[in-house]
Amino acid sequence: MINYDVTPIAGACGAEIHGIDISQDLSDEAIQAIRTALLDHLVVFFRDQDLTPDQHVAFGRRFGELNIDRFVVPMEGHPEVMVVLKEADETQNFGEVWHSDVTFQAEPAMGSILHAVEVPPFGGDTMWANQYLAYEALSDGMKRMLEELRAVHTARGGYGKEALDKRFDKLKRSMKIYRDRDHEAETEVTHPIVRTHPETGRKALYVNAAYTERIEDMTVAESRPILEYLYRHCARPEFTCRFTWSKGAVAFWDNRSAQHYPINDYNGFRREMHRVTVCGDTPI
Ligand code: SIN
Repeated sequence: MINYDVTPIAGACGAEIHGIDISQDLSDEAIQAIRTALLDHLVVFFRDQDLTPDQHVAFGRRFGELNIDRFVVPMEGHPEVMVVLKEADETQNFGEVWHSDVTFQAEPAMGSILHAVEVPPFGGDTMWANQYLAYEALSDGMKRMLEELRAVHTARGGYGKEALDKRFDKLKRSMKIYRDRDHEAETEVTHPIVRTHPETGRKALYVNAAYTERIEDMTVAESRPILEYLYRHCARPEFTCRFTWSKGAVAFWDNRSAQHYPINDYNGFRREMHRVTVCGDTPI
């Protein structure tokens, strides 16, 4: 019998779990408790976790196979670990718009588990937004229209040649991006704009400003007004929570029902986070 509690941090999503040390080889009961809290709250937090990269990977594997990112060079010796880093003298952060992870893949991520290794003295919070609530708040007419539609997702805007030519200098010292894989970023996949969560059965909006390029069978120009409306709508304050990091804190979020946004307000300070990403399935 495990002794833990789950305390919500906002009305829309987010809860802190106390009493579980995720560096340990946890019982199936503890893993089930975390999974249940994740499904209920979309993002769960643990404080003060003293976690080696191997322990981080081992924890992630309890929830599924881990994704190896196609574009970001991983931590040496740990292909599943992405180092999300902004040095004190850099100005651009990683993942700087509202997004869900790796939706440019045919099978995007189920979850992401981010561990704070070094945090700025203030700033550098991350926000999450509940995409079930975003869907549910739409009018019946909009819901009906969107349910018929699929959207094209691609990594082109982040890792394609044109994007890297523009941003490579800013990112190359800390976040190492494979420069010779820009052609792979041209791949396009389509996902439904409204997806049904495979575990909860609830419907969630599933477009994001980082990787969704256009609505299938429409031009970029035709899609833009609809997508821009949805991007604004997706992140309405009442759908969100905001987490202030401390060294050792961990956030585990469900990419199928939440988007996230790392706030870039800590220029002059170093922030280092380690992420493992749990593989997901084909959105339906
Ligand atoms: C990410 O998008 O995975 C990074 C989130 C963060 O740095 O808070």
